[in-house]
Amino acid sequence: MSFDDGGAAPIITITIKEAEECQAIDIVELGEKIFSNPWNEENVMASIFGTYDKVMVAMEGDGDGQALVGYIIYSAPCEDCDLLRIAVREDVRGRGVATQLMQYMVYDLKKNGHESIMLEVRESNEKAIALYEKFDFDEISRRKDYYRDPKEDAVVMKKYLE
Ligand SMILES: CC(C)(COP(=O)(O)OP(=O)(O)OC[C@H]1O[C@@H](n2cnc3c(N)ncnc32)[C@H](O)[C@@H]1OP(=O)(O)O)[C@@H](O)C(=O)NCCC(=O)NCCS
Repeated sequence: MSFDDGGAAPIITITIKEAEECQAIDIVELGEKIFSNPWNEENVMASIFGTYDKVMVAMEGDGDGQALVGYIIYSAPCEDCDLLRIAVREDVRGRGVATQLMQYMVYDLKKNGHESIMLEVRESNEKAIALYEKFDFDEISRRKDYYRDPKEDAVVMKKYLE
């Protein structure tokens, strides 16, 4: 694929780890910059402490200089799981962060015996749809006017974990 800046940027080295309570505010702030319906601190904390949810953060750098560059939140209550959120800081997009977060989620859910992952995405979100197709998610349906601000249909996608 070609990126907006006209050339492929190098893959960024990140560490993926489970989010800690003290990172909730950074997750909220990143989401507020990206989503029209951002999660608040209560939502993020509920997932961090939730029985079935997992919040994984992508960190760049070492030691005290570590910075959050992305996150993925998914829910695994039974065989069928849901990808709830994935976000990457704008200045490091196109450098493999989302790919690494998705790889981690697929590995984790497979390892724990789950069977499928579902998600909804705005039909205009071509980058995210391309990301999901790369991971063999297929469109299974559409939800009319699912999103607000702006109003838009959702594409529902599903991947079976073999
Ligand atoms: C979608 C998003 C998570 C991708 O993150 P990223 O770290 O830039 O993605 P990667 O660099 O790992 O690229 C993974 C794949 O995404 C797709 N992609 C990424 N940037 C793209 C672009 N500019 N144009 C088209 N496809 C793109 C490609 O399929 C790419 O795979 P490839 O490099 O093998 O072609 C990021 O753009 C983002 O945070 N968007 C805003 C939040 C969002 O839309 N979340 C999904 C809501 S459902």
